[in-house]
Amino acid sequence: MDLKGRSFLTLLDFSKEEIKYLLTLSETLKDQKRKGIAHRYLENKNVVLLFQKDSTRTRCAFEAGAYDLGMGVTYLGPSGSQMGKKESIKDTARVLGRMYEGIQFRGYKHDDVESLSEHAGVPVWNGLTDMYHPTQVLADFLTIQETFGYLEGINFTYVGDARNNMGNSLMVGAAKLGLNFTAVAPKALWPEGSLIEHCEAIASETGAKISFTEDKMEGTKGADVIYTDVWVSMGEAKEVWQQRLEQLNDYQVDRAMMENAGNTSIFMHCLPAFHGTDTEVGAQIAKEFAKKYPRVQNGEMEVTNDVIESNQSKVFEEAENRMHTIKAVMLATMHGPIN
Ligand code: CP
Ligand code: NVA
Repeated sequence: MDLKGRSFLTLLDFSKEEIKYLLTLSETLKDQKRKGIAHRYLENKNVVLLFQKDSTRTRCAFEAGAYDLGMGVTYLGPSGSQMGKKESIKDTARVLGRMYEGIQFRGYKHDDVESLSEHAGVPVWNGLTDMYHPTQVLADFLTIQETFGYLEGINFTYVGDARNNMGNSLMVGAAKLGLNFTAVAPKALWPEGSLIEHCEAIASETGAKISFTEDKMEGTKGADVIYTDVWVSMGEAKEVWQQRLEQLNDYQVDRAMMENAGNTSIFMHCLPAFHGTDTEVGAQIAKEFAKKYPRVQNGEMEVTNDVIESNQSKVFEEAENRMHTIKAVMLATMHGPIN
């Protein structure tokens, strides 16, 4: 499997075999890391990480991963570079492509990461756009595979804002790899019709089933995985909170939902998650909205604290797997096959 020179913008661009190859490579790199075996396959190369939005996991996964692979790293944050302000994405791509062997981009418009990839002449990796977050899905699927031993036929239920970058990307990933994907959300928050149609066409070849329901008990019954994400994503206006609470407060992942799924089910979340008042936003939303929406009174929003802290929760395994899977993406696209 040779992915050298390819960008990684959405899982739609990769076949089932290519995605499985990346997961297998991630396992190899994880094993080497655990055993302390050096794997500096990319010495003398450098990567640049462009972030228009904040990050903990994605930035650190790329940085630590690049160091492990023997590379140098430059981080450019939401302020401090010319990109987008005084210099177009296209010009930025042509400059950075001459200095670095790979570029990570986290931003708003998916078009921007496509434009970077078109003009940079080196692999570009999507570290999250408003539309997709594909490196997260690799980490999530590695975690599911480690837990259950397989991916095909897993009943995967996504609860919450199903038309955000995570809802979209998980639906694409499930369709590609043959997981049964159910989105549980008010209809207004289901993914775009054209993306659903595209995924259904993929699913008809892989055997995946894709379904949607507003009924949270029906949609979570017997699920192997219950996945949720924040109700308001980066880049959305503060004013959206009121509407999203109205739409989603009844879809909070709680103990009753996990029991409905069954005691072998796992809970997943890409993080960061709101499950207490120990964050600025969590405390503020709790204060402002507790009266009208009692579920959020303790800063618990998309998931209750008891669920995320339970033995069924895999959130920190997912977070760790960001690094192993991102290393696999960099290695496969910059180096090609390893022996
Ligand atoms: N899950 C994820 O992408 O986290 P960060 O925003 O911290 O990178
Ligand atoms: N949907 C979230 C994902 C964060 C990793 C956001 O875009 O903010």
